[in-house]
Order: sequence, then C-alpha cells, then structure tokens
Amino acid sequence: MTEKTLISFAPASGEEVWRGTISDVGAAVSRARRAWPDWAATPLAVRIESMRRFVNEVRIRHDEFAEIIARETGKPLWEARTEVDAVMNKVEISVNAYSERTGRTRLDSALQGTSAVRHKPHGVMAVLGPYNFPAHLPNGHIVPALIAGNVILFKPSEKTPAVGEKLIECFYAAGVPEDVVQLVFGGVDEGKELVAHGGVDGVLFTGSVQAGIAINRRLASNPGKIVALEMGGNNPLVVIDTPVVNDAASLIIQSAFTTAGQRCTAARRLIVKESMYEPLMEALLKLTRKLIVDDPFADPQPFMGPVIDNAVADKLEQSFLALVTEGGKPLAHMRRGDPEKPFLTPGIIDTTEVADRPDVELFGPLLQVIKVPDLDLAIAEANNTRFGLSASLIGGAPEDFGRFWANVRAGIINWNRPTNGASSSQPFGGIGLSGNHRPAAYYAADYCAYPVASTEMEQPRANIAIGVKD
Ligand code: NAD
Ligand code: SIN
Repeated sequence: MTEKTLISFAPASGEEVWRGTISDVGAAVSRARRAWPDWAATPLAVRIESMRRFVNEVRIRHDEFAEIIARETGKPLWEARTEVDAVMNKVEISVNAYSERTGRTRLDSALQGTSAVRHKPHGVMAVLGPYNFPAHLPNGHIVPALIAGNVILFKPSEKTPAVGEKLIECFYAAGVPEDVVQLVFGGVDEGKELVAHGGVDGVLFTGSVQAGIAINRRLASNPGKIVALEMGGNNPLVVIDTPVVNDAASLIIQSAFTTAGQRCTAARRLIVKESMYEPLMEALLKLTRKLIVDDPFADPQPFMGPVIDNAVADKLEQSFLALVTEGGKPLAHMRRGDPEKPFLTPGIIDTTEVADRPDVELFGPLLQVIKVPDLDLAIAEANNTRFGLSASLIGGAPEDFGRFWANVRAGIINWNRPTNGASSSQPFGGIGLSGNHRPAAYYAADYCAYPVASTEMEQPRANIAIGVKD
C-alpha cells in the first residue's frame, strides 16, 4: 500500500510546519483494543499519578509547546501560552470531577445486602480535535477519559498535527504506554473511519456542526457507541443600559475578535438597545481601529493573528460582501492587506435591515450588529438561531439578567462578562446545533464512564413467600 502524506503550514507565513505519514486506522484500533484491559485494570491512583507527571512534562516544554501552537494556528504567542496553561490545569480539575461525578457510592442495609454504584470505562475512545484550540480542547477529552480507564485514539485536526504530536509526546514522557494514547494522523477520511470502526467504543468530537451532524447520522443505527459532540455557535451578545460604555466595548472586542474570532463561543451577533447604539458604536469602532493584527511572534504582540488559512479567509470575505449585498451597513470593513495571506482586520456590519440573516457560524473576525428597542426583543433576537452555545448580557440590573437567563437558550449564559473564555471548572456545552447534551470540561467525566448499579450479598438468601403450594 502506498503511504499518504499529511503536511501542515504556518498561517502567518505559509511555511511548512510539519510533514508526516497518514496513519493506518485499523492497525491503531487493534493496538488500542489490546492495550485497554491493562490500562483499565491499572489502579486509579496510578492513572492519576501518570496524569500529574504529564503536567510536569508539559511544564518542562512550556515554551516550545506555546511556540508550536502559535506557529501552526497563527494565534499570538501570549495567547498560545494561555492554552498551554489550560492543558496543565486540566488534570487537577479532571481528578476532582472524576471523584465527584463518577465516584463510588455504597449503601449498607442488613437484610437487603449492599447497594453500590460504581463506574466503568467505555473502552477505546476516538478523540477528534479542531484546529482553533488544538491542544486544550482534545486534552479536555483525553485526560478525563484516561483517568476513567479508557484508551485513546487521538486524531488532531489535519491543520494542526504538530501540536497534536507535542501533546502526545508529553503523555509518553510521563510514562503513559504508547498504545494507551495513540496519534492518528489524517483528515476527514480517517475521522470517518474511526467513527465507523467497530473497535471504537466512543467518539469525543469537537468541531463544526456539519461534521458533528455527519457523525451523528453515521452512528444513528449504533446507539451503543457513546458520542459527545461539541460544536459551533451563532452566539448573541446583548447590550442594554450601562454607563460604562468603554468597558462594554472592550467586552465586545474580547468576545468577538479574540483568536481572530475563531472560538466556538465568540460573539457573532451584537444585539444593542437603540438608546445605547450611538455611544456604544463610537467606543467600539474607536477601539477596533486600535487593534493590532500581526504575526503571532511580532513585537509588540498583536491582539490577534491571521485566520487558519487562505480558504477560510476567502470565505469570510465573501460572507462579509454577501451581507452588504443583502442590505447590511459596513461599520468596519474587513480588510486583507495581502490577498496571499489570511490576515483579516475585524469586520463589523449592521445587519438590522437584512431580512433573512443567515443562521450560520461565520468562524472568524466578523461581527453583525442588530438594533432592538428593548430587552424583550433583544431576548427574542438572541434566540433567533438554531444554535445554543453561549450568550452574554452587558448592562441592566439583576432582574434584567434574571429575565435574560430564564429565557435565553444556551449552555453558557454570562452577565457583564464575555461570551468566550469558558471555564474548565464548569460544564462546557451547548444545546440545539451546538451540542448533544454531553457537555465537556467539568462534566466530561460523565461521558468517560458509565454507571453500574449493583446489589450484593455475601451469601444467597431468598425464599418464595407467595404463590407456592404447601
Ligand atoms: P471540523 O469539523 O472541520 O473538524 C474537526 C475534526 O473532525 C477534525 O479532526 C476533522 O478531521 C474531523 N472531521 C471532519 N469531518 C468529519 C467527519 N465527517 N467524520 C469524522 N471526523 C470528521 O472543525 P474545525 O474547522 O477543525 O474547527 C472549528 C469548528 O470547531 C468551529 O465550528 C467551532 O465552533 C468548533 N469548535 C467547537 C468547540 C466546542 O467545544 N463546542 C470548541 C472549539 C471549536
Ligand atoms: C473554544 O473552545 O473555541 C472557545 C473556548 C472559550 O474561549 O470559551
């Protein structure tokens, strides 16, 4: 069989970052199946100890890890460092989550014996990663799944194999056996093969809604396979009355443009009460013009780097133009200095007058602004989407946030905080097209193990009391 090659490129320079061979999925699954019984039988304390050693190995490589993330994704170095920190923090959070959410309970009753609930690992888990958080998000599945006693086949995004390799190097350096966490290099085809493989017991996916739906459809006749789908959003950020307009503008920029808008939780729709529109737009546009868009290693450091590649930049430019054609008013043009590179300045467009705003995730630095008369219509507009990942309210009083919280459909609902920056210490997931009710982060423990109920007695003790002849 001829070997196929995978290559990744630096978005900022176009230079080759990584080159390697596409993996043989079937062989990787066979190795994983053989490795699972031993890992599942390894005492929990030993598995946890391996994860703590993993943290030390990440710490030793902190600088080189951040550099490869910045190079391969284009996100600024300062931000790549925060991703490495999140990888390290994941372990203690997952240890706590495992014992709190999937620990053991035993109830003793003299006559009925013991009633116990214990959790078992599923087996071989395929982890399919996205490119925007190529270490932190797959790691958010891998660490809890390993703690619970599963083995892992990790397919990093085809756009970020080098980061995937660095992550797994740290597990190996920590002493985790190579067949317990394997890398599967490849693209959509290898992802599909993993999903469909009979030797894979679970699919832990983070990525686009299109891919998530394809996975769900593929597994419709296979309800026994556990599937966690962490997908995108068309997230609303609502601004009502607030005297601190500059802070509101900063929160909007953090929400919409951090990571060049390539966060699932990024604000896509800014819904503004009419009375706030003028002062807020003035502050927002002033700050937007000051944002530095540059190479991830530039000095001074930029606020944001390029988007992941030219194809994505082309699509975003086309989406901006399509919204203008449909009646949107550009407030800040999305500009691309060099058509051969995927650096885009943040685009802001008022789409209040656009009749049929497309309910899609535009995964980049593109923010739509929609003017509304009051909070009730803002809530209705916030819910005018099939997605339901994150939402924020800026301004208002506690009772306004109470109304917002009660009526908005999303898995994350914040007040005077950005839509993004989700905490690993909380559940992280969405509803509608954003997820399948299997939130990750703190609740990842729930899909990494299944509960087993037992009633137990040391000796058989029974009699038939009714319906028996003398
Ligand atoms: P993507 O869906 O293109 O790819 C994600 C992974 O799935 C890749 O490894 C890819 O090879 C694989 N894949 C793609 N199609 C597949 C299929 N049919 N079957 C099996 N595997 C398949 O996503 P992306 O472009 O890498 O990442 C960006 C997307 O991820 C955005 O939509 C973003 O909102 C989403 N995201 C969601 C979260 C979350 O936690 N909810 C977090 C980060 C990113
Ligand atoms: C993401 O996972 O894409 C974003 C996480 C966050 O910033 O909330």
